[in-house]
Amino acid sequence: MSDRLFIFDTTLRDGEQVPGCQLNTVEKIQVAKQLEALGVDVIEAGFPISSPGDFNSVIEISKAVTWPTICALTRAVQKDIDVAAEALQFAKHKRIHTGIGTSDSHIKYKFNSNREEIIERAVAAVKYAKRYVEDVEFYAEDAGRTDNEYLARVVDAVVKAGATVVNIPDTTGYCLPQEFGAKIKYLMEHVDGLSAGKAILSTHCHNDLGMATANTIAGIMNGARQAEVTINGIGERAGNTSLEEVAMILKCHKGIDIDTNINTQKIYPTSRLVSSLMNMPVQPNKAIVGRNAFAHSSGIHQDGVLKNVQTYEIMDPKDVGIDDNAIVLTARSGRAALKHRLSVLGVELEGERLDATYQEFLKLADKKKEVNDDDILMLAGADRAAAHAIKLDYLQVTTGMGVKSVACIGLDIAGEKFEASASGNGPVDAAIKALKNIIKRHTVLKEFTIQAISKGSDDVGKVHMQVEYDGHVYYGFGANTDIVSASVEAYIDCINKFKK
Ligand code: KIV
Ligand code: ZN
Repeated sequence: MSDRLFIFDTTLRDGEQVPGCQLNTVEKIQVAKQLEALGVDVIEAGFPISSPGDFNSVIEISKAVTWPTICALTRAVQKDIDVAAEALQFAKHKRIHTGIGTSDSHIKYKFNSNREEIIERAVAAVKYAKRYVEDVEFYAEDAGRTDNEYLARVVDAVVKAGATVVNIPDTTGYCLPQEFGAKIKYLMEHVDGLSAGKAILSTHCHNDLGMATANTIAGIMNGARQAEVTINGIGERAGNTSLEEVAMILKCHKGIDIDTNINTQKIYPTSRLVSSLMNMPVQPNKAIVGRNAFAHSSGIHQDGVLKNVQTYEIMDPKDVGIDDNAIVLTARSGRAALKHRLSVLGVELEGERLDATYQEFLKLADKKKEVNDDDILMLAGADRAAAHAIKLDYLQVTTGMGVKSVACIGLDIAGEKFEASASGNGPVDAAIKALKNIIKRHTVLKEFTIQAISKGSDDVGKVHMQVEYDGHVYYGFGANTDIVSASVEAYIDCINKFKK
């Protein structure tokens, strides 16, 4: 019988730490339910001591989700563990994930401590967490750069203290696959509690050198039985190992003989949902879920695929939930079709919210012939802007070759109307200058990304922005068939987040 790998999803914790990717509790519940449908074993729902928002999200996700274990992160600190236990009170299956840095640089510079004291603190944290829950996971932060012999002593001590899972993070993404695999092998061979089945090892790899998935697979092939992953590989800096890559590697490489509980046909809808809610575009060439992942453009490839799809495709797009025959929504599609498609994508809308989204859908379907999944996810999330105090009333821009662009803008600020105009070196410049003439704050545009039109000149353009104001950087998003309006919407999204 094949071995089982547990999938620990940390999209809502490590993934959500990414600047600009923050979700509110309702959105986190949506993602958590989709992860449950996808078949993940553990959902890391947050770091409860870090903020009231995280605390509340762990509570609400615990109530909303039935099968997966809900996990809460802590440092090896009693207060953190108390708060995590409280946040997990409604979880049907609960886990506390506690830990401490074990590399020499963490021990010296982060904790001003020594190896023996770190083992004592690790053991004390596990024992303390055990007072609240049976299932305790310990992480040895920066295990990737921790000396193997010392790491084995740490793992041995925490397993004896009652840890059920020991996480070996390559926190900095430094390890080579062979090195990481050897580390897991060394631990499997030198810690009795592991061979005795008292605990399992987990991988948690970061992608700084592009080796997160390779390291995770090396870890699995050497004995790790849990993999910590995120949807689309989002996470701190260059991100974490991506769930879809691990799940599909194990599905395609039957020789590894390790199974997961992932329903791979839910991979693509989950990827779209997370990307849309977090306003985090997926790079077109991203393995498994990128727009080009199954697109064959060269003549030789197209010819081969037409003769026999296996010549260039190692997996069936349908296996990851990409269905070319999926119903495309048009202006003639009814409310029920929209509701059904959203539900396939993990968004349940009813009543007034469904009506409002349907009205927006009809407007968009008037502007473009076919409305795709990204569009309707964007529409379903559009009511996030409804609560904004500052709203765009109208925007008029004249532009062209050899003339200066001029923009007139109207804003509604908490019910009061304002108008201004400005000229600029292009339509976006003119529109933003007109907007600034009303807002009158010193802002600096730090980043401005327009997601290029992908399927036709009538497609929806998506704009991501970072605006600096008063020492803080704010993230904004806008989407519109008119790219200038999308840019202004993104700027307004940022302004609405200003703290003063
Ligand atoms: O990367 C890391 O080491 C972590 C731990 C907190 C598990 O995210
Ligand atoms: Zn991490």
